[in-house]
Amino acid sequence: MKSIAVLTSGGDAPGMNAAIRAVTRYALVNGVEVYGIRRGYCGLIEDEFVELQLSSVANLIQRGGTTLLTARSEEFRTPEGRKKAATNLKKRDIDGLVVIGGDGSFRGAQKLSEEHKVKVVGVPGTIDNDIYGTEATIGFDTAINTALEAIDRIRDTASAHERTFIVEVMGRDCGEIALYVGVGGGAEVISIPEKPTSVLEMAEAVRYSLKRGKLGSLIVVSEAGKPGHSYELAKKLEAEVKSPVRVVVLGHIQRGGTPTARDRAIASALGIGSVRRLIAGRSDLMVGIKGDLVVDTPLSEVVSKKKEIRLDYYEMAQILSK
Ligand code: F6P
Repeated sequence: MKSIAVLTSGGDAPGMNAAIRAVTRYALVNGVEVYGIRRGYCGLIEDEFVELQLSSVANLIQRGGTTLLTARSEEFRTPEGRKKAATNLKKRDIDGLVVIGGDGSFRGAQKLSEEHKVKVVGVPGTIDNDIYGTEATIGFDTAINTALEAIDRIRDTASAHERTFIVEVMGRDCGEIALYVGVGGGAEVISIPEKPTSVLEMAEAVRYSLKRGKLGSLIVVSEAGKPGHSYELAKKLEAEVKSPVRVVVLGHIQRGGTPTARDRAIASALGIGSVRRLIAGRSDLMVGIKGDLVVDTPLSEVVSKKKEIRLDYYEMAQILSK
């Protein structure tokens, strides 16, 4: 393999920079040229390539966001868009592509490989941790720690005023962020798309808290594909419990910031793993984390199977919030 390219696609996630650094350095050390593509698939179509050197990725491992920039490309969903993308890779003799992103990005990568025989390897990068074939995605650990820090602060004011708070976290239609943040923050209620909690059940939990002498209640809800839905939910809950319910939507705060040690470590391991596979001539797979190991899953499985949530964690949280 003479040269490869790397891009970040979809929502940014802390640790993407660490993955770009690992891809670049591991490839160069092994005699493979590396191009960075700016703005994800948009840059691939619009020919925004930059050749990367060892020094291009210096001082990057600790930075949030993505130095290559990211985007969601409508044009790449079309065969014409993917043809332009493949032409730009071929004219530079680029043999392999590392795509750092989520399942939407992998769907595009799979099509590019099918239609134009580009060798592709996916690296899971999204705060949502919703990807089949990996226990962790790059950015998830940082996002849950950021959200948890906010929740600890909200708990202080909730207790001081003996109030109920609904804290809405990201995750699109996956409850992983809400689940881990709810467990870690000792939430009285966790509501996730995989296990939704009704308003009546929430009201019952709030009443139980009051009866038990708790100083406040925290309800962690997933955005569940409807960001901001918690304001409506709060109104319904207020009507049931007959006391004020405050809402905090954590939003994009969860996407930014310095990656945790774990995110830097898995991003480094996955970045190296992706280049290793391309050098070995492999394609159409995603590298993922299982325990301490880097494992492979075919992209066809990654995009067609659903990651199972840890329902035992959900049950544990229910017991511990009593
Ligand atoms: O996939 C990451 C994510 O942050 C989701 O949790 C969220 O639903 C979505 O992206 C928000 O996207 P945007 O930044 O385009 O509003």
